[in-house]
Order: sequence, then structure tokens, then C-alpha cells
Amino acid sequence: MGKIKNYIQKLHKSSKRDYEKRMLDNKVHCMKIAKKYGKQYWDGNRKFGYGGYRYIPGRWESVAKKLIRDYKLNNKSKILDLGCGKGYLLYEIKKILPHIEIIGLDFSKYAITNSHPIIKKNIKYHNCKNKLKYKNNFFDLVISTGVLHNLKLHDLLFCLTEISRTGKKNYIMVESYRSEKELYNLQCWALTCETFMDKKTWVNLINKFKNIDYEFIYFE
Ligand SMILES: C[S@@+](CC[C@H](N)C(=O)[O-])C[C@H]1O[C@@H](n2cnc3c(N)ncnc32)[C@H](O)[C@@H]1O
Repeated sequence: MGKIKNYIQKLHKSSKRDYEKRMLDNKVHCMKIAKKYGKQYWDGNRKFGYGGYRYIPGRWESVAKKLIRDYKLNNKSKILDLGCGKGYLLYEIKKILPHIEIIGLDFSKYAITNSHPIIKKNIKYHNCKNKLKYKNNFFDLVISTGVLHNLKLHDLLFCLTEISRTGKKNYIMVESYRSEKELYNLQCWALTCETFMDKKTWVNLINKFKNIDYEFIYFE
């Protein structure tokens, strides 16, 4: 059984969100643009995604430290960040453990091209719909934050199989809800989400796979 974690809540809660404004601002068009995961999603207007996703020194540092502590990572460990985006979390981990082996995978060519220059060589193209080319238990830790709810259910199931197969330990963070209000807010806010599931359904599903710890972010 995986364990519930609390690494990213604080970062998530530090952003302000006007749910209804987003819902009423040509949202179908914005969803189509966001799902391309191109420049507009990362560094365009907020209505298309992040609204400018730049490296902020230290922003991911406490998450990196907690992962290193809880999963006992060291300079000999191997880790994978699946759907790593611009790779800022991997970079923070690498700053603390300079010899750790890091691999980042993502299918956003824009994110890969604009990833942190120091770790760009470690980030490769991969679509989570496909099998990972690594053997069983290859990684000490597989991380995937903010990615899996963006997959359709059959791809999500396949991806969880691949995470559980390749990582000795695994940690995922996904968007979820615990009430009608949070479901409504999530539906207003989400641009790229394909699988909307409440916390209990996620926990049930994740626990069908071996060794996957999990965290949820909510839209309160
Ligand atoms: C919300 S962003 C999270 C990025 C990063 N993990 C973070 O927490 O900052 C979602 C990421 O999932 C990636 N993604 C979505 N669907 C994917 C797929 N099918 N294969 C690979 N990456 C995918 C996107 O390109 C994007 O980098």
C-alpha cells in the first residue's frame, strides 16, 4: 500500500486562482491551446496555462529535500521524473546531490528546449502512453507530479503499470477533489485534465499497483 505524502500542497496553495473567471474566458479554446503544451501553455497568458514558468531559485528546494530524506536518496541513486516539464525539481535535487543519476522525460518539446540549462542533457522526449525503455526496478525512485490526471484512463492505467515496474519506490502527485465544491473548482480551472477522480477513487486505483506513494492537490 502506498502512503499519502504532503510535499507540494504548500506550493500549490501559494498561487491565487479565480475559478469562475477562467471558466468564462473562452475556456474551450484555451483548453485546446493548453493541450499542445507549447509556448502558450508554459510562457503565454495565464488563461492558457502557467502564465510564465521560470526558474525561481529555491522554489522547489524544500520538495527536493523532503524527497531525498524520505526516500533515502544519495549520490549513487538513480531517479526518473516522468513528465518533468522544465526539470526544475530534478535540478534542485541535483544541486543537493551532484552525482545522483537523473533522467527527466516529457512529451513537450517546448519544455525540453526551455528546461534548466544545467540538466537539459538529462531530459528526453517520451510520451507516457508508451512503454518505458528501462528494466524492472531500474530506478531507486520514480516521481511524477501534475501529470497523470492529464492522461485518459486507459493510458493512465498503463502509465501506473510502467511506474510501478521501473521504480523500486514511486511518488506521484495528481489533481483531485473531496467535495462537490472542489470538483466544480477543478472543472473550472483544469485546462488539460482528462481523468477527474475523487480522492478515494484515486487511492483505490493507485493501491492496485505496487509501491506508489501519492499526494493530491485540491482546488479549495
Ligand atoms: C502540470 S505540468 C507538470 C510539470 C512538472 N512535473 C511540474 O510539476 O512542474 C504537466 C506535464 O505533463 C506533461 N505531459 C502531459 N501529458 C504527457 C504525456 N502523455 N507524456 C509525457 N508528458 C506528458 C506535460 O508536457 C507537462 O510537462
